[in-house]
Amino acid sequence: MKIAFSSPSLPKAGILAVTVAADRALGTFGRDLDQRSGGQIARAIEAARFKGKAEEVLNLVAPAGLDVSRLLLVGIGADAGALTANNVGAAVLAAVQFSGEAEVALVVDDHALKVEPGLFAAEAAFGAYLRSYRFDKYHSTLTADKKPSITKVTVQVEATKDAKKAWDKLEKIADGIFLTRDVVTEPPNVIYPETLADRCVALEKIGLEVDVLDEKKMKKLGMGALLGVGQGSTQPPRLVVMKWNGGAKGDAPVAFVGKGITFDTGGISIKPAANMDDMKWDMGGSGTVIGLMAALAGRKAKANVVGIVALAENMPDGNAQRPGDVVTSMSGQTIEVLNTDAEGRLVLADALWYCQDQFKPKFMVDLATLTGAVIVSLGNEHAGLFSNNDELAGKLTEAGLATGEKLWRLPLAPAYDKDIDSDIADMKNIGRPMNAGSIIGAQFLQRFVNDTPWAHLDIAGTAWTKADKGMVPKGATAFGVRLLDRLVADHYEG
Ligand code: BES
Ligand code: MN
Ligand code: ZN
Repeated sequence: MKIAFSSPSLPKAGILAVTVAADRALGTFGRDLDQRSGGQIARAIEAARFKGKAEEVLNLVAPAGLDVSRLLLVGIGADAGALTANNVGAAVLAAVQFSGEAEVALVVDDHALKVEPGLFAAEAAFGAYLRSYRFDKYHSTLTADKKPSITKVTVQVEATKDAKKAWDKLEKIADGIFLTRDVVTEPPNVIYPETLADRCVALEKIGLEVDVLDEKKMKKLGMGALLGVGQGSTQPPRLVVMKWNGGAKGDAPVAFVGKGITFDTGGISIKPAANMDDMKWDMGGSGTVIGLMAALAGRKAKANVVGIVALAENMPDGNAQRPGDVVTSMSGQTIEVLNTDAEGRLVLADALWYCQDQFKPKFMVDLATLTGAVIVSLGNEHAGLFSNNDELAGKLTEAGLATGEKLWRLPLAPAYDKDIDSDIADMKNIGRPMNAGSIIGAQFLQRFVNDTPWAHLDIAGTAWTKADKGMVPKGATAFGVRLLDRLVADHYEG
């Protein structure tokens, strides 16, 4: 779908959308339109109880005298900032995506806004664009009416120059988000460790340095925890290191680490059949790291960034690890694997240790669909945030509020940590049943960060959505790309 910007004018065809502020307040463009139509717009607003609340849409047959087929009124409410713009753009796109029309023009009228009008327009375009995401490649029989008809969105605003400038960056972030959604949505017979590593290598063409560690190299490094998870699969595990060197030479990087279980059957501690297909999303953390690295490279971020993804398929077979196995991690610490379904923490243990050992980063943030328990705690609204560093946790929380990818901090404490002490090894990979499951996962990871400032984002509830939600259509959300791009932009560039 194409995005364009122009100054406000009446389109000759397609669909026209016009913003309306709280309490049905039309702007200059809207009032002019109402006058031209002999008061039809005011009348329609009255008849529909339309209030102009943010994202409220009134979809009308265009009044006589206009060349367009439909007129959409879209509310922006009283507090119209960037997030409102995102949702307004998304609401417009959702309302017209299958309309049969090819083009929609959204007029950002001259209301009082909480951000510059050019930025508002660009953020509205961003919302529309992100909402337009589709993954149709495996549909071979889609009829025309099941396909989106809209191919172009033009956002009309006086400040077109500002809008275009802001959009140039947002477009790169959108590219990253679409890449994340693509790799997370691909089925598990298509995306497995080697093929996901290939998608990373493909990012060399946008300027990333990419290094793939195979089993041999990981064995040499002593990554027994990661290798143990992969050993029951015919698909060998991989660890991929992506580097973006946009900062000063020698400046320590910031690092992002993703859980990349390309399919999680649970292993020998096998999961029930119902909804097991959901576990193709279990590489969501690594999908976000991959899209984030693409976004940062795309917009040429002025920072040194390392992205690491730990890729394995968790399968049960004759060579799979058993409950009770003891593995030795790269850190030297031994782990009693009491439940093979608590595998994410095992691959991350080696990835986090490797990351801090190899790169001495300013901080590490890991993303993982780690525990079902975080969905019990926080549902789909917030991802769980755990950190050994208040400053990093604060910056992340703030970036979450700014982007709408919200985090909620949960505690870490020695009293939880002792729950993973093992009788036979340095630690076990589970705690007590039904007892602080997400915290236990985080405590386990903390044993592999070695005092590096670190945060863990448990995105099990936010990596995908089962219903359309604003700028995120049903499916893979790419949660974390916008959040972490913002973290880098606000604190680690220039
Ligand atoms: N990938 C799952 C967590 C998950 C569950 C994500 C549901 C999204 C939706 C993870 O590997 C897992 O199986 N965790 C176990 C941990 C338990 C065995 C300690 C869980 O949450 O049940
Ligand atoms: Mn699991
Ligand atoms: Zn898992």
